[in-house]
Amino acid sequence: MRPLIVFLACCLAAVSAAARNTTGRSFSSEFFFGAATASYQIEGAWDVDGKGWSIWDYLARTDPDHVADSSNGDIAANSYYMYRRDIEMLKELGVTHYRFSISWPRILPYGRANYVNQRGVNHYNEFIDELIANGITPFATMYHWDLPQNLQELGGWLNEEIVDWFGDYARILYQNFGDRVKHWLTINEPYVHCNLAYGYSMHAPRIHSPGIGYYECGRHILLANARAYHIYDNEFRSVQGGKLGIVISSEYVFPASDSEEDIEATRDYFEFHLGQYMNPIFSETGNYPQVMIDRVAAASLSQGYNSSRLRGFSEEQIEYIKGTADFLGLNHYSTRIIYRNSSVIGMFEIPSHEDDTYAASFQNEFWPASQAPWIREYGPGLYHLLVHIKDTYNNPLVYITENGVSTTAGLNDYNRVSYYRSYLNAVLDAIAEGCDVQGYFAWSLMDNFEWALGYTQRFGLYEVDFGDPERTRTPRKSALVYKEIVRSRTIDYDYDPDPYASNAYASSAWLLSIVFAIVNVLIQL
Ligand code: BGC
Repeated sequence: MRPLIVFLACCLAAVSAAARNTTGRSFSSEFFFGAATASYQIEGAWDVDGKGWSIWDYLARTDPDHVADSSNGDIAANSYYMYRRDIEMLKELGVTHYRFSISWPRILPYGRANYVNQRGVNHYNEFIDELIANGITPFATMYHWDLPQNLQELGGWLNEEIVDWFGDYARILYQNFGDRVKHWLTINEPYVHCNLAYGYSMHAPRIHSPGIGYYECGRHILLANARAYHIYDNEFRSVQGGKLGIVISSEYVFPASDSEEDIEATRDYFEFHLGQYMNPIFSETGNYPQVMIDRVAAASLSQGYNSSRLRGFSEEQIEYIKGTADFLGLNHYSTRIIYRNSSVIGMFEIPSHEDDTYAASFQNEFWPASQAPWIREYGPGLYHLLVHIKDTYNNPLVYITENGVSTTAGLNDYNRVSYYRSYLNAVLDAIAEGCDVQGYFAWSLMDNFEWALGYTQRFGLYEVDFGDPERTRTPRKSALVYKEIVRSRTIDYDYDPDPYASNAYASSAWLLSIVFAIVNVLIQL
């Protein structure tokens, strides 16, 4: 059956690509373009100016070989020191928005609010001021996976007290930066963070508990997001007038066949991934999707637990969480095809979120592959996902907070060019369909530390030379193509700039300017 499905999916892709003709279509002037990064992935300066240890600093020192190339984020792209160059790059691209994250242990070295590290605050003050002076609107993520190690020692996201800790941290951010930051993203990708860090021990703090820890982590993230939202509402919104959202990741998924089982498995997959976080915040009823509540309770019972491994919310908590986002930050990378048959029984660890979901997935091998094993290019998936979100959650305001693909090193990144064109085309389709998408951040502005895969994955519009102490950044072909899309607000499939030519020009221009400067000095002598 599989080859037939793959073939059909391929035809579907070709037909929908042909149907989506971009000629004459453009992004409106209200739609904004940006680029995104995260603190641990680019900043470096891991132990300077009073910063405390994050869980990734701890992992780098205690378990260095866990990361693919035994690397770490000690220096990364060195953006703590090179942020002016980063801002220059944003300007080169012509984008107007930057999504970056604030390192919690830089602000609160011990995690709690009893001690604020003024030097950390000063750093982000200077950085935010510089962004604004350059006409770039900041979108600040409060938490992109670099939890203070001190808090991890108390259980991290498995301890419900983190709701208080996160709320206190959020308040400090509003107090110090809220006069200029008007768009806050509370927490990055609860599903991925909880799955990799507290489910399958792939990310710091490397806890293995896919059937319990995973759910506890997700539960506390929903409560922590709500706490940050209510603090903003009660103490800051009337004066600062900003907006808050959470960043939720989702693949698009569709059934492998039109069998009832595959269709139901696809519905379940959506509910156990996207729905787990969207339903409590964005639906009218709030709470987890009913299928999750029922399925995990039944499985827990049959596995001998006294209560559901998915700890429920009280009525009060359901109300507390409902509506706690002014917009959705959506991260999207790829699409999967879902099936359910007897082979799925026993496929996953028991207990686990995957076993509870009871659905397996694969990708169409004709979709262009990338360096990242989980990403194949299938642009229409983003269109379908956005329409699904519109139809299921009452058309929320969406900013695409991450979208991108990894390649090998080198400037001629044809795969990334193709990927961005195809996904941005899908955004145009979704807007035409009535989806309220108002902005887009490419992941990523530059190559960075890709978590457990170290520097083996290149996600940057700009290549970073990690062998060079200067961490030189050079625009790839995709950077030039993105720049043209941003400028013209249309997607020109024929535009094929040569990154080597433009960089050679840049370096000769640089040389010429030195020669001119010397001549100038000589003339004045
Ligand atoms: C994360 C990024 C990561 C990217 C590519 C997202 O899930 O938010 O930190 O670099 O995926 O894997």
